[in-house]
Amino acid sequence: MELKALTGDITKVETGAIITFFPETEELSGEIARIDEALGGAIAGLVSQGEIKGKLNEITVIHSLGRLPADRVVIAGLGKRTELTPDRVRGAVAEVCRHLQRKRVGTAAAGVPVVGIDNPEKAAQVITEGALLGTYSFRRHITREAEVGEIKELSLVAAGDIKSLEQGIPQGRVLAGAANLARDMVNEPGNFMTPSDMAAMAAKLAETHQIELEVLEREQMQALGMGGLLGVAQGSQQLPKFIVLRYRGRGADEGIDIALVGKGITFDSGGISIKPSEKMEEMKGDMAGGAAVMAAVSAVAQLKTRLNIAAIVPATENLPSGSALKPGDTVTAMNGKTIEIISTDAEGRLILADALAYAGKLGARYVVDVATLTGSMRIALGDLYTGAFGNNQELTDKIVAAGKEAGELVWPMPLVEQYKEQIKSEVADIKNVGSRWGGSITAALFLAEFVGDTPWVHLDIAGTYWSEKEQGCITKGATGVPVRTLVNLVLSLA
Ligand code: BES
Ligand code: MN
Ligand code: ZN
Repeated sequence: MELKALTGDITKVETGAIITFFPETEELSGEIARIDEALGGAIAGLVSQGEIKGKLNEITVIHSLGRLPADRVVIAGLGKRTELTPDRVRGAVAEVCRHLQRKRVGTAAAGVPVVGIDNPEKAAQVITEGALLGTYSFRRHITREAEVGEIKELSLVAAGDIKSLEQGIPQGRVLAGAANLARDMVNEPGNFMTPSDMAAMAAKLAETHQIELEVLEREQMQALGMGGLLGVAQGSQQLPKFIVLRYRGRGADEGIDIALVGKGITFDSGGISIKPSEKMEEMKGDMAGGAAVMAAVSAVAQLKTRLNIAAIVPATENLPSGSALKPGDTVTAMNGKTIEIISTDAEGRLILADALAYAGKLGARYVVDVATLTGSMRIALGDLYTGAFGNNQELTDKIVAAGKEAGELVWPMPLVEQYKEQIKSEVADIKNVGSRWGGSITAALFLAEFVGDTPWVHLDIAGTYWSEKEQGCITKGATGVPVRTLVNLVLSLA
């Protein structure tokens, strides 16, 4: 989709559809009133008959039949004005764009600013994100033709100066582009997104956006004592990769400001503690945390943020085989701590143990890890809220705020010290599984053992990395959560 900034009167724009927004039970005023006038009062008529109510995500299409240069007008309901947020506008744009694509409308235009967002730059960013996120689809492995059309061009139209549009559009494009990149990686079947494929993607990002890349191979992992990652990887034919992307926006000699650590299990069968086969295919997305941190760093680089950021992704498959890790085995993580394996399906925390220790060795000022870590997170918060565990209230608050701005919801979760009891081991320093209760908390407590005192937040995206339905900016399959949250966080720290 091409995005254009235009100056002028939206009622004069020749396009497939003018998109205009309407909050619930309001008088027609401003832009929508001018469009209504051109349509001879058609909108006002539908409002008085109750066909247009302005309910959130209500979509009404009126064909202009020659009364406007545009073929049609789409009135997008925004719900109650008091509940109006930029994210509702973003979601409404996504719904409208999908609607237009189903109708095979090829071009559209929207006026800026929109109701609910006074800042025109922000409005342009939000509309861009809604359009690009909402029309995302993953068709790489489909040879038959698509049932829906494609919006080829979306124009944003401002009455006066378009400078703010020219700033907001690229900002939105970078953020949505990064989220869609993560979606692509997560939607990609496991046989097309192996640890080596993830490393190849990292190389591509490094090359396009001038980011430094280091990929540690098995021998280097051995030298560093990464027993967690090596343990999980020993059951797979695929070579493990430890991917480190470094973007230096503050200076080559300065240290790392934030390390973003992402779980990179390219397929999680559970290993010897094998999972039930129902929905096991979703475990191709068990590298969603890794994809998110790689995409986030590429966005931060494109935005030329003045901070030094590292993305760290331990990548491997988790498969059963004659050489696989077994329940009862012990491994030693990079920081020297020994771990008793109770379940080989609690593999994420094993590879993250090494990655978090590595981030500590880099001397990062802040550490944020992202992982599809526990099924119990999905049970606790469902598919809309990511859980945030951490040792630093300020950093947690910043992430919650960054998520809110992105429309990717984050809820703080407690690191309950008393539950540490559950992961005490008789044969090693710690064991990798506690009881059934509070499973996402004991997982986070396990990770905390490998962090030290650095301000750290762990985001468990097991509920949010995947969606079974379309909903606003979210499309079916991979959601790209929490890429935009991470980018907003970095921008807020810069
Ligand atoms: N990757 C899974 C967690 C998961 C489940 C992510 C569902 C997305 C959707 C993780 O490796 C796992 O298997 N966790 C176990 C931990 C248990 C063995 C303590 C779980 O949650 O069942
Ligand atoms: Mn698992
Ligand atoms: Zn897993």
